[in-house]
Amino acid sequence: MIKHDILIVGGGLTGLRAAVGLCDRFDVGLVSKVYPTRSHSIAAQGGINAPLANNPDSRDDTWEKHTFDTVKGSDYLADQDAAELMCREAAPIVYEMEHWGCPFSRFADGTIAQRPFGGAGYPRTCYSADITGHVLLNTLYERAVAKGVKIYPEWFVTALSIEAGQCHGVVVLDMRTGELIPVAAGTTFFGTGGYGRVFQHSTNALINTGSGIGMAYAAGAPLKDMEFVQFHPTCLIGTSILMTEGCRGEGGYLVNNQGERFMQRYAPTAMELAPRDIVSRCIQTEINEGRGFEHPLGTYIQLDLRHLGAQKIQERLCGIRQISIDFVGVDPVDEPIPIRPAQHYSMGGIDVDIRCASEVRGFYTGGECSCVSVHGANRLGGNSLLDTIVFGKVASRTIGEDPEVRTRRPDERALLKLKEEVERTLRKLASPGSERPALLQAELSAMMSEKVGIFRTREELTQALQKVIEFKERYRSVGVTSAARHMNYELTGAVELGYMLEVAHTIVLGAILREESRGSHFRLDFNTRNDADWLKHTIARMGSDGSPAISFKEVTITRYEPKERKY
Ligand code: FUM
Repeated sequence: MIKHDILIVGGGLTGLRAAVGLCDRFDVGLVSKVYPTRSHSIAAQGGINAPLANNPDSRDDTWEKHTFDTVKGSDYLADQDAAELMCREAAPIVYEMEHWGCPFSRFADGTIAQRPFGGAGYPRTCYSADITGHVLLNTLYERAVAKGVKIYPEWFVTALSIEAGQCHGVVVLDMRTGELIPVAAGTTFFGTGGYGRVFQHSTNALINTGSGIGMAYAAGAPLKDMEFVQFHPTCLIGTSILMTEGCRGEGGYLVNNQGERFMQRYAPTAMELAPRDIVSRCIQTEINEGRGFEHPLGTYIQLDLRHLGAQKIQERLCGIRQISIDFVGVDPVDEPIPIRPAQHYSMGGIDVDIRCASEVRGFYTGGECSCVSVHGANRLGGNSLLDTIVFGKVASRTIGEDPEVRTRRPDERALLKLKEEVERTLRKLASPGSERPALLQAELSAMMSEKVGIFRTREELTQALQKVIEFKERYRSVGVTSAARHMNYELTGAVELGYMLEVAHTIVLGAILREESRGSHFRLDFNTRNDADWLKHTIARMGSDGSPAISFKEVTITRYEPKERKY
């Protein structure tokens, strides 16, 4: 058994920031299922929001205005105290990253460059060309290495131990040796990212299965607002690779097959820079009503950058240009990029308070796997990178101030018992079965993209629920082709599939129950927001029959009374 005072799971921005904030004073171990610099944070492109007021058009920007945009963007479901905290911390955190060596793009006067992003009153998205996640992650990783954080790369967490209201650590599979190892800790922090791969069409890396969310839920921690799934408007046809919002921030147009900048009809002021939930619905409507372009890879809308000119495209969107050339043979300098919406982000997640503390003693979470909630029903572009680093730091503060952090003892017998359970699960998965995990996962994700997408109805959601229940039944017959434990991605994929099914179950049930349209959750059969009945968070707990039981929690309103959103 391995022991640490504090165990961090996840080597992306949130986990690394938490580790950097704690490792000087405490015994910290960081477990990551991939080498940390392969974490999905690396894929973030367009930028990180902070009201630095560097752009000539944003001189009177403030953290209060950033908070208002965040709350309005969230369709008023964000907890306003949490949104305030994130926006207050935004400028200091960006400067901290700058001082730690992060190579941001610069304006001519040397200040950090900022571009416009959707739903924001001012250009406040700080960026490094279109590789902002890459530079932030490498900066934090270097910092973690320099500080000597103990990192266990390619350690796959199989299960979380919660007993008697306390978290005791995790059981990991060391993928290089195939050894099953209990890791005991008085404090466990999850920064395990989102669940994008529960959907077929997603911008997310293959590692984003949401297994951290699923295993916390299966161990007894409640989830919040799982029905809110973000669909990014501009993803490359075929692969759904992200074509950053920065393309529109730099002035790109969205055009239908009539040659029309159709956003004029939907959001005449903000146009292409309306929030993502709105732009995605508009694109999907254009496609559904026959105003898209046909292609063997699917119907699409054009993202036109040509008027920006080759120099600006090469300088600020060079990664986008190369991806477009490599994957669809389109050079955006000469031709519009073929795009359509795809799943991008999970607003919901493990229920934690503004300090990143869950209701389980010794269990904290931050970043995309958690729901504080700062994004409510719809996240603004550029607030995700901000959330990861701010709440990694907030968690390090909370944990560091916990009077029991050095004295809370994990129950090692509970962990050993869990190890035996995992051993049995792995043995069962490695015995012959009639279901292949990859095929079942493909069916699940195709069904979720088809029935739990941008536009939802009771009929389709009910079908989705029946399907999830059927898939869970079929999961009992899953078997993998090799019993080997080391580097057996079919085996780890099979473990993750069990958690993906739980995550899908909570998304679908929350979506059925929420009989209104708010932010990313749009019900064709209840197509308006209903504050009287639904200005509340949903909380999902695993019931004794294995299905989610849903209850509700108040939304914290401080200074912004809910209003109709207009852009
Ligand atoms: O479009 C983008 O660059 C994505 C940014 C985000 O999700 O915050």
